[in-house]
Amino acid sequence: QRAAWDGGKRVLLAAPRGYCAGVDRAVIAVEKALDLYGAPVYVRKEIVHNKHVVKTLQARGAVFVDETDAVPEGEHLVFSAHGVSPAVRAAAEARSLQTIDATCPLVTKVHKEAVRFAKQDAEILLIGHTGHEEVEGTAGEAPEHITIVDNPDVADRIEVKDPDNLVWLSQTTLSVDETMETVRRLRQRFPNLQDPPSEDICYATSNRQVAIKKIAPEADLVIVVGSANSSNSVRLAEVALDAGARAAHRVDNAGEIDDAWFAGVTTVGLTSGASVPEVLVDEVLAHLRERGYGAVEEVTTAMEDLQFALPTDLRRDLKAAN
Ligand code: F3S
Repeated sequence: QRAAWDGGKRVLLAAPRGYCAGVDRAVIAVEKALDLYGAPVYVRKEIVHNKHVVKTLQARGAVFVDETDAVPEGEHLVFSAHGVSPAVRAAAEARSLQTIDATCPLVTKVHKEAVRFAKQDAEILLIGHTGHEEVEGTAGEAPEHITIVDNPDVADRIEVKDPDNLVWLSQTTLSVDETMETVRRLRQRFPNLQDPPSEDICYATSNRQVAIKKIAPEADLVIVVGSANSSNSVRLAEVALDAGARAAHRVDNAGEIDDAWFAGVTTVGLTSGASVPEVLVDEVLAHLRERGYGAVEEVTTAMEDLQFALPTDLRRDLKAAN
């Protein structure tokens, strides 16, 4: 039940927002690895796609590298939440790196689906963004079976070998509605296209989209806190616009908010991507308060309590150290 609104300036704060279980686990994994092994701990790619998180971990001694060959032999290397292909695992092993796998278990689930369908010799249409680390990792599980479908338009022109042995899978952080549109267009051409065994877009991505969709029609302006390379954050701004927000902007932090955005704005919608620490949202709320948007109403569309155990190798070492 929502309280009556007096018509004044206000903020509608989306819940759920911010950290998902996979991000929480990945960030804690790097922190614990630093505590346990000491700096430097190497991390392949950004552990999660958030500038603030990366900078904070860097200050503690995490060293972010693009590829395994930048890591000295025998050192500790964390694989990011987005996952890696088997080729990357092999390269790490060849350098005798001690790896800690912070791949989100919900990404691993998609990898396993890809492997299973490839074994059945099926052709896999992987809906996702070309060049995104997660897509590279998943596609690397079965490159000869996987074709990436980058957007709904690709669905209209893609060619397949056998339309009767065809399945679609997806990146975990896409727009739910756009993905359904892609699937609809694929199925028009390939009626026997098989669905994934379970939803690939993860609970956190869809919950954050549902929450902002509820707020967007009432919002003159939606602010999404999240980094530019964070797929789910960028999607939240798009979803807000599609759902009726008059304007939507993604910012890394309060410092990127432009005062010009507030002209004629009574209701501000606020959310954050799955890789965004709450402190950044608090800073935006303080920034909004200073501009007269002190009344904050949290709009909750789901409760989340999922938690993932830390990566196995790390748990083993933590246990041995205690
Ligand atoms: Fe995992 Fe979804 Fe977060 S795939 S890392 S729970 S956004």
